[in-house]
Amino acid sequence: MCGIIGYFGKRKASEILVDGLRRMEYRGYDSAGVACLHDGVLGVVKNPGKIKGLREKVDASELAPIREAMLGMGHTRWATHGEPNEMNAHPHLDASGHFVMVHNGIIENYKEIKAGLAQHGITCVSDTDSEALVQLIAYCYQGNLEKAVTEALKKVKGTYGILVMTDHEPEKLVAARCGSPIVIGLGKDETLIASDASAIIPHTRDAMYLEDYDMAVITADGVQMFDLQHAPISREVTEMDWDAGAAEKGDYAHFMLKEMFAQPAAIRNAIRGRLDLTMGTALLSGLDLSPRDAAQINRVLVIGCGTSMNAGMVGEYAIEEMAGIPAEVEQAAEFRYRNPIVSPQDLVIAISQSGETADTLAAVREAKHKGAIVAGLCNVVGSTIARETGRGVYLHAGPEIGVASTKAFTCQVAVMLMMALKLARGRRMPRHEGEELCRGIERLPELVEKVLAQSDAIKIVAEKYADKENAFFIGRGYLFPVAMEGALKLKEISYIHAEGYHAAELKHGPIALLQENTPIIALLNNIPGKEKTIGNAEECKARKAPVIAVVSEGDEATAEGFDDRIVVPDCPPCIAAVPTAVALQLLAYHIAAARSCEIDQPRNLAKSVTVE
Ligand code: F6R
Repeated sequence: MCGIIGYFGKRKASEILVDGLRRMEYRGYDSAGVACLHDGVLGVVKNPGKIKGLREKVDASELAPIREAMLGMGHTRWATHGEPNEMNAHPHLDASGHFVMVHNGIIENYKEIKAGLAQHGITCVSDTDSEALVQLIAYCYQGNLEKAVTEALKKVKGTYGILVMTDHEPEKLVAARCGSPIVIGLGKDETLIASDASAIIPHTRDAMYLEDYDMAVITADGVQMFDLQHAPISREVTEMDWDAGAAEKGDYAHFMLKEMFAQPAAIRNAIRGRLDLTMGTALLSGLDLSPRDAAQINRVLVIGCGTSMNAGMVGEYAIEEMAGIPAEVEQAAEFRYRNPIVSPQDLVIAISQSGETADTLAAVREAKHKGAIVAGLCNVVGSTIARETGRGVYLHAGPEIGVASTKAFTCQVAVMLMMALKLARGRRMPRHEGEELCRGIERLPELVEKVLAQSDAIKIVAEKYADKENAFFIGRGYLFPVAMEGALKLKEISYIHAEGYHAAELKHGPIALLQENTPIIALLNNIPGKEKTIGNAEECKARKAPVIAVVSEGDEATAEGFDDRIVVPDCPPCIAAVPTAVALQLLAYHIAAARSCEIDQPRNLAKSVTVE
C-alpha cells in the first residue's frame, strides 16, 4: 500500500527520496510526491501516476528546496479517500503552507476533525483523511513540532505512520506510528526513514523499528525517541539481513519471474539448520514451545489472508494428519470479528509474508487477548506481527517485491510442514516417519528446480489459453489449497476470472458455467483421490471444457484423453503441494505475459494490505 520515505543527511534529498519511492513501487500506488526543506523554505512536487513522471517533474523543478535540500520526505499513495489526483497526493501542506506531512493508514475520525477545524476557519482542500491530520498538527503548534504532533495524535482515531516537517523548525523531521510500519535506518551522517526496509537497504543495514505510539525526532544530532506522553524511550538497533540486490530485478523481465526462480534458494534458506535428521524432527527454536507445552496443545488455528491463508491450509492438513491435533484455517478478517472460541491450549499461527496485514494483525491481538499461544510465521523481520506475537518462525525468503506472492508461499508451506513435523514428533509420529518427512522437505528445492526447468514447456501450454476469460482449478487433499492458490495467481496477474474448487464441488454448481472456452486445470498428481479427480476432469471434458492435466512424472498416461499436460515430479502428497504450486505460478505468469499484463503491479492491488 502507500509508501513513506524520509531523509536527513548530507546528500541531495530529492534524489534519495525519488529513488526510495521507486524501490517501493511494488507495493502498489497511484500517485506520488516529495517535499523538501531548505534554508527555512518548503518545496513540494506531486504527480498523479507513475514515479517516472514524478522524477521528471523533480528534475525539472526550479524550487530551491527540491534542488538543494538535504532534508525531505516522499510518499506513494494508494487511493482510499478521494481519487488519485495531484490535490489528493501526498505530501499534504496545511492551510498556512508552513507544515507538511506524509501519512500511511486511515484517520477514521477525519470528518470530525475537519468539522472541528472548520469552526476555527481552517478548511481542507483535498478529499483525503490525511490532510485533516496535518491541519490539526498546525493548529496544535506552539513552537515545538513534536509536541504539536503529540497533541494532534491524541485526538486521532485510526492508524498512522507519519512524517512531519515545518519551516518554523527547519532542521527537524518527526516520525510517528500506530498500526502502519516505520523503520529508521541509521547511516553514516544520515538518517533514512521508511515504511518499508527495501527503500533504505541500499544506504544502511542498521535499523530501528518504531512500535505503536512511538515518536522519533530526527535532527542533525541524531534520533531521539519518545512515547506519546513525551517520555524518552529507546529501541534496539538491529541489522537488516536482506541483500540489496534482492530488491532489484536484475536481468529478469519481472520481479515475479525472478522470485519464482529464486524459490529453490529461498526454500533452502527457510529450512537451513531446522531439520534434525537424527531425531527425525524440526528445530524451530523461535516457536519457544517446550515438548511439554507442545504436548498440551489441544487445537491449532491458522489465520491469514489470500495466498498466506492458502499456505496455512496446507499446514492445517499436515498438522491434523501427522500430529493428530485438530487444526483449522480461518480468514483473519472473519476470525477477528466473529468472537471465536479460543482457549489457552490453542496454538494460533498467524501467517503473513509482510507481517503487516491489518486483518491478520487484529486477529493476532484478538487471539492473544483470549489467552491463546500465538506464533507468527512472517517473512519480514521486525514486522509488526513478528514483534507482537513474540514467538514464531521467520521464512528467510528474502524480500518479495512482485505483488503476486510466489516464494513466500512455497517457503510458508515448507515452514508449515516443519511445524507439523515438530508437533507430530512430540506426539504420535515414530522417528523413522519423521526422518522420511525430513528427507521429503529437504528435497523441496530440487523438486522446484525440476519444475522451473519446464518453464518453456509450460509457456507453450499457457499461450494456448491466454485468450480465455474464465478458468477453473480443481484438486483434492493437499492439492485443494494449491488449486485455490493457482486460481488466485491467475486472476490477480492476468485478470482472467479464475476460481479454485475442490474437485468434488464442481458439480454442486460451478459445472453450470462450463463450456468449450472455459479451461479446467485439473491437479491429477499421483496422490490419494487421484482416480476421483480424474473422474471429475472427465465430467468437465464431457461438457466440452478443455482440460489441462497436471500429472506426476512417470504417470503421464493419466493425461491421455485430456487436452494438455504439465508434468511435475512424483512425491508424497504434502510435498507435492510445493512443486505443483510452482507449475501453476509459471502457468499464470506466462498467460499474463502473453496478455501483456503489468505483472509486478496488477491493477488495484497492493503488496501489503495495512487497511481493512
Ligand atoms: C496474493 C497475495 C496476497 C497476500 C495477502 C496477505 O498473491 O500476495 O493474497 O498473500 O494480501 O498478505 P501477507 O502475507 O503479507 O499477510
